[in-house]
Amino acid sequence: MEPEMLKLGVNIDHVATLRQARYATMPESKNAEPDIVAAAAMCERAGASGLVAHLRSDRRHMQDRDVERLRENVMTKLNLEMGNTPEIVDVALRIRPEEVCLVPEKREEVTTEGGLDIVSLGEELKPTIERLHTAGIRVSLFVDPTLEQVDAAGTLGVEMVELHTGKLANAFAEKIQSVELNNLQVAAKAASELKMQVNAGHGINYDNIALVREIPHLTELNIGHSIIARAIFIGLEDAVREMLRAMELYKG
Ligand code: PXP
Repeated sequence: MEPEMLKLGVNIDHVATLRQARYATMPESKNAEPDIVAAAAMCERAGASGLVAHLRSDRRHMQDRDVERLRENVMTKLNLEMGNTPEIVDVALRIRPEEVCLVPEKREEVTTEGGLDIVSLGEELKPTIERLHTAGIRVSLFVDPTLEQVDAAGTLGVEMVELHTGKLANAFAEKIQSVELNNLQVAAKAASELKMQVNAGHGINYDNIALVREIPHLTELNIGHSIIARAIFIGLEDAVREMLRAMELYKG
């Protein structure tokens, strides 16, 4: 049987970042560009399987209205990335994205810096996971690629894990790359054996995608910054298509 094609979720937070550079106090102004919903539609037209938006507590890029509008307009699926805080969980339950990916969130970080520590946070996560499940939302946990974290995720009844590829993406020395790749390969196998869907994301670009293709059992990649950055030069649809072409080479 042919392995299924690797799916792409495009994280469009960076489109909002660009808009907020000018319109932070009036993101809903008619002139506020670039428009998130138009960007989402272009990603879908180019073949993305879903859109990812991170609603952060400080609302530094995505605003509540953005996720509402995405909910109204996204035709594929919406993956809301978020921290486990009561306020944001309430937004998720109101918006009802198809999927939620729970991530750690520190106000001072530039972007998500590491996976959720499921080993120590498991008990805190349980009620949130239960509430999301009751609302019919599939849940993913963003985890560092260690057996400990994957095993802990496996006890929480979540549908998916998203393996944090940031360390692989940032490793320039080949030796470190091969250690990180090995960690991801082992973690992916373990997650798959625990019957969780295996996704991966963070820092994936048009170069290191070649390494990411070496991780087995993957269903979906969630990619943002590199695609939006490339879009400045070649346009968003072509940037998405170019990434999809690189993903087509995945052997499973
Ligand atoms: N997946 C998760 C869980 C993330 O936190 C991020 C960053 O918001 C991404 C994927 C996308 O990362 P990047 O923008 O580096 O491609």
